[in-house]
Amino acid sequence: MTKITAAITAVGGYVPDYILTNAELETIVDTNAEWIETRTGVKERRIQKGEGLGTSDMCVEAINELLNKRGITALDIDMIIVGTVTPDFVFPSTSNIICDKIGAKNAWGYDISAACSGFVFSLATGVQFIETGKYKKVIVVGADKMSSIVNYEDRTTCILFGDGAGAVLLEPSTDGNGILDSILKVDGAGRHFLFQKAGGSVYPASHATVDAHEHTVVQEGQTVFKHAVVGMAEVSAEIMKNNRLTGSDIAWLVPHQANKRIIDATAKRMELSPEKVMMNIDRYGNTTSGTIPLCLWNYEKKLKKGDNIIISTFGAGFTWGSIYLKWAYNS
Ligand code: UT7
Repeated sequence: MTKITAAITAVGGYVPDYILTNAELETIVDTNAEWIETRTGVKERRIQKGEGLGTSDMCVEAINELLNKRGITALDIDMIIVGTVTPDFVFPSTSNIICDKIGAKNAWGYDISAACSGFVFSLATGVQFIETGKYKKVIVVGADKMSSIVNYEDRTTCILFGDGAGAVLLEPSTDGNGILDSILKVDGAGRHFLFQKAGGSVYPASHATVDAHEHTVVQEGQTVFKHAVVGMAEVSAEIMKNNRLTGSDIAWLVPHQANKRIIDATAKRMELSPEKVMMNIDRYGNTTSGTIPLCLWNYEKKLKKGDNIIISTFGAGFTWGSIYLKWAYNS
């Protein structure tokens, strides 16, 4: 029997219009544009403005683009999986809200919380529903409105993050292209180094938690940096070894966009030249679950059927992992 793989058959993306530049950040916190650019690679990031707008609204834009490109409607969709740490609400899930907003009346879905690995964990999950033959069209979204959980008085974090959403469509393939392998990892001992303290069941929201700014991102930057450099490089090397790939076999690395220095270190370990590395951190900053599908969205026209692609990520939790796929279409 021919093996069914899950292939990405369309990509959509959305970033809000408002551009928060490093120069504007200089007017908000004690920082300077040059420090931000040289230490992180970020020049500007997008911010979702507007009363009552949230992560689902960015996802809707990305998904509608994807549906148009593929020439299908929301009614054709079986399932929507959303990687996010900034859901519209604690419950119901952002996936539920998206299904309603786009009219995906035949779909079901849920959110996956894995911070910067949210898209990768969601993609690996979506793949299972296609490979088993259960579903024919699964949308996987990575999206975060990081501006809703960033403390703009903390210069060590507010310079890093932005808002955005990217979506991919998974469909069955039998031509050998599609998602071929994944390695996914967690280490809960890392939970102390990048987290949001309040708003969960341990520290529910109260006047005290709001007064203490405990509903925003806290990060021990250097510790996360060290783990990210090792984690992303090693998991990428591991998936290459498992699939007998060398640097010259790989057309593209799609790395999580947290810090250009982490991306460069990963590419070096994989023996990849910079032209093979997708990068948009300069324009969007770290959009958490959004970074990887937004890279695919930006680079889609350059991708060719059969290209070997390695996706790689590291984030809060700690969570990290890598996916190996063969691109399934020419744009
Ligand atoms: O996506 C999830 C995973 N997240 C990551 O992978 C992020 C990992 N961490 C990082 O990317 C980096 O650690 C940061 C970008 C967060 C920080 O860069 P760093 O090179 O590790 O800086 P540092 O924390 O060691 O700070 C160096 C100096 C300090 O000053 P002193 O003590 O040397 O005088 C900081 O106070 O830079 C200072 N600093 C700043 N200066 C200007 C920290 N933030 C800023 C700032 N502007 N925004």
